[in-house]
Amino acid sequence: MKVRNAVFLACLATGSALADEAVKAHVNEGKGVIKAFFGDLKGELVKGMKQHGPVKTIATCNTVAPSLAEAHSQMSGWQVGRTSLKVRNADNAPDAWETAVLNEFEARKAAGEDPMKIVKAEVVEEKGRKVFRMMKAIPTAEVCTKCHGSDIAQPVTAKLDELYPNDQARGYKVGDLRGAFTLKKPL
Ligand code: HEC
Repeated sequence: MKVRNAVFLACLATGSALADEAVKAHVNEGKGVIKAFFGDLKGELVKGMKQHGPVKTIATCNTVAPSLAEAHSQMSGWQVGRTSLKVRNADNAPDAWETAVLNEFEARKAAGEDPMKIVKAEVVEEKGRKVFRMMKAIPTAEVCTKCHGSDIAQPVTAKLDELYPNDQARGYKVGDLRGAFTLKKPL
């Protein structure tokens, strides 16, 4: 009996080691998807801010960000997006899992973790199916404060008010967590 228990425990241990390996592979793949999405998004943002300034670049965020999310979802087979505890666009509002993770990210940052590296991955069950979910924190950089800070220029505020009457995504300081990338794929 003791031996059988030992074998059983050994199997469990191997099983979870395998699961860990699988999770690691998904995390690495997910990080690649985020890198590609973020690279494209940041490229558009920086180009827009340099060439046209913040007012016109709002249009980039308004239309290009969702279409890039869609394009990267199609390319990768993951569902890719961005979310936050205080969203500008209600379409980006977090679900229950995302809200819990965003709160966890705030706690981890407060405990001293480097915001550039804060990641969470988990296999969850949704409607009876196993789904791999992952989030990565997005810290606020200097350029972000032009549209998400507490001292936003008047023409920018006017455009934001027009497009997003329920905008909550203002008042951020450099280093604050602006939100997170959020990814999922069915297993
Ligand atoms: C030119 C103005 C502008 C700048 C600069 C800007 N954003 Fe935004 N941001 C927006 C707009 C507009 C939206 C809403 C996009 C949409 O409709 O999906 C948005 C949405 C977001 C969202 C999605 C969640 C939400 O609030 O709806 C995140 C996350 C985000 N921005 C992070 C950043 C970060 C990080 C930076 C700096 C690297 C940044 N933004 C710079 C205008 C801007």
